Amino acid sequence: MVTEVRRDMLQRMRIKGGKKLIGTIPISGSKNLSLPAMMAAIMTDKPLLLRNVPRLADVLSAMDLLNYIGVDVNWADSNSLELRCGSIKTTEAPYDYVRKMRASILTLGPLVARFKKASVSLPGGCAIGTRGVDLHIKALQQLGAEVEVENGYINATAPDGLRGCDINFTTPSVTGTENALMAAALANGTSRILNAAMEPEVIEFANLLNMMGANIVGHGSPIITIEGVESVRGASFEIMPDRIEAGTYAIAAVVTSGRVLLKGCVQDHLSSFLETVRSVGGICEPVADGILVYREQDEIRPISICTAQYPGFPTDLQAQYMVLMTIANGASSVTENIFENRFMHVPELCRMGANISVIGRTATVVGAHELSGAQVMATDLRASVSLVIAGLVAKGETVVNRLYHLDRGYENIEDKLNNCGAEVERLNV
Ligand code: EPZ
Repeated sequence: MVTEVRRDMLQRMRIKGGKKLIGTIPISGSKNLSLPAMMAAIMTDKPLLLRNVPRLADVLSAMDLLNYIGVDVNWADSNSLELRCGSIKTTEAPYDYVRKMRASILTLGPLVARFKKASVSLPGGCAIGTRGVDLHIKALQQLGAEVEVENGYINATAPDGLRGCDINFTTPSVTGTENALMAAALANGTSRILNAAMEPEVIEFANLLNMMGANIVGHGSPIITIEGVESVRGASFEIMPDRIEAGTYAIAAVVTSGRVLLKGCVQDHLSSFLETVRSVGGICEPVADGILVYREQDEIRPISICTAQYPGFPTDLQAQYMVLMTIANGASSVTENIFENRFMHVPELCRMGANISVIGRTATVVGAHELSGAQVMATDLRASVSLVIAGLVAKGETVVNRLYHLDRGYENIEDKLNNCGAEVERLNV
């Protein structure tokens, strides 16, 4: 196991800068929908088939955790997962699994809802922030579960089942809303989630639960109403395209002055982001099978952004957008309103010649600096891909270390980039 971890830790990526991205990039299934969808299998003893699931490290980690709990999960084909939770071995999600993948917290709601108890390790913080789970815990308590946090574990019980109620979120939480949906779906009576997250992944997740026999209305609005049902059944469900992957490659196309068809990308999932890309001078043209992204003029206009919950500018595209601003004609600001420490890419971009200064939650980017290739360190998923994008446009060669961060969220990234004219190579030590 140690050798395996060391090998992962030492994988690096070498990127030769200066190549335009020209061609088609097929967008994979959404990581942030696949993960809750996999955990929903716990809610039923019937088979759940998920199609268009990306082969990512986070998906493999979720498979390991579900296997540990006692859920049968196998690849039915290269991107389809078959899951079935007949009986289970345990209602515990141990630290070793949860620390690797925070979305493991999504076992809490379904385990309590169906098996009336759960013991889930606290995920702990991560590079981008403290990432509390207090809202998840409060939602279960409001639904009548007894919850205590002891020795780093959330121990929840509901011997008489959960009962419907109003679930108030003081701030919208994507996975908090998803946990509450699974718990309320099997509660006795009616629940309302107030101040619900409205991300497309949450909407599609509620659609999956309804396909499984839940009774949910209002998803996509701040108030979701759930009529509890006795049980839910299996389903066969297609995972939507990953809008964050699509947005990432849209930025790569614009920074390299390329021309890329984002195959399968859904414009409505990214309207605020695409509007910003158009404002800086990118062209984002919806076409039959996706969105065509390119740049007509040389200048990139400096446009300031603030990240926000959906439908605002997505926090998961903040680091990538910052690279675009480092080569814009002028100064702009990037304000991160969702996470308290999501600027870990800044020092690494500065090592490549970017001119960025951070005060509190706002980074000021002075553009028009040509980036130069360097050895850089990945720290978290979206920071790592921003360094790859910077390497694509930098003069010379860039090597990104700690590639395992990247593999959590970008399926076949080298092939997708190299098939569009990039020169990207994975280096095993
Ligand atoms: C989801 O994380 C996504 N992950 C994140 O994507 C994404 O950045 C985030 O939503 C925001 O859009 C998955 O869907 C698996 P939140 P989540 O709860 O649900 C605070 C990526 O790169 N909060 O909406 O964990 C929290 O600290 C990942 O793909 C509490 O304080 O995010 C944050 O400041 C990164 N207490 C804010 O709310 C809680 O109980 C929003 O977080 C829950 C959240």
